[in-house]
Amino acid sequence: MKPNADLASIRRDYIQPEFDIKNAKEDPFEQFSDWFDEIAHISPEECNCMTLATASPEGVPHARVVLLKGIEDYKFIFYTNTQSDKGNEIEKNPRVCLNFYWWELSRQVRIDGIAERVSDEQATSYFQSRPRESQIGAWASPQSSPIGSRQVLEERVKQLEEKFKGQDVIPKPKQWGGYAISPMSLEFWQGRPSRLHDRLIYFLDDKQWKVRRLAP
Ligand SMILES: Cc1cc2nc3c(=O)[nH]c(=O)nc-3n(C[C@H](O)[C@H](O)[C@H](O)COP(=O)(O)O)c2cc1C
Repeated sequence: MKPNADLASIRRDYIQPEFDIKNAKEDPFEQFSDWFDEIAHISPEECNCMTLATASPEGVPHARVVLLKGIEDYKFIFYTNTQSDKGNEIEKNPRVCLNFYWWELSRQVRIDGIAERVSDEQATSYFQSRPRESQIGAWASPQSSPIGSRQVLEERVKQLEEKFKGQDVIPKPKQWGGYAISPMSLEFWQGRPSRLHDRLIYFLDDKQWKVRRLAP
């Protein structure tokens, strides 16, 4: 079976202006902020979606979408269940890759980096800012583990709603936390006409960010 759509004929012309070293920021985090502000203005919903790739110690890759929830101290932060597949992989192998695709501006940003756990205080503070239903959901879901049915999950939610009834503050489950990713390189890709795209990669050289152009 395959989709009815004619996959080979799907293509798009990129019409965005040039992105060159001469108009790129020296600091890749400033460059990221500029691009992020532009996309957040055009498409505020879920422009913070990023694909997070992790790899098992044997080098088997796994990728999934998570939400960027902050940039602090030059680190990109997301939250999850630390006992999930991704959490287990990061504990054994902290090298990760993040990928943002912003189709409205024909842009991609790829970040290679190292993940570390954020403090429990920081995770708690973010957890407390989430809607109550999401907090209960975090308690209810043993993320990445097989479950018998959706009903099992819904039953757990009911039990937890009962358990926390009348309680204003729902505590953070201990297996819920955040990761902060320190970039080792950041690549900015701008789609351009005739597939001659602009790619600038920032990398650390003796603790200084350098930038160079890559062939598309
Ligand atoms: C738009 C979108 C946003 C998501 N955001 C998160 C997130 O911030 N944290 C998270 O743990 N999972 C998030 N997920 C679910 C993950 O993609 C994934 O299914 C889940 O974390 C389990 O991944 P794992 O089994 O590889 O650990 C999101 C999924 C989508 C489609």
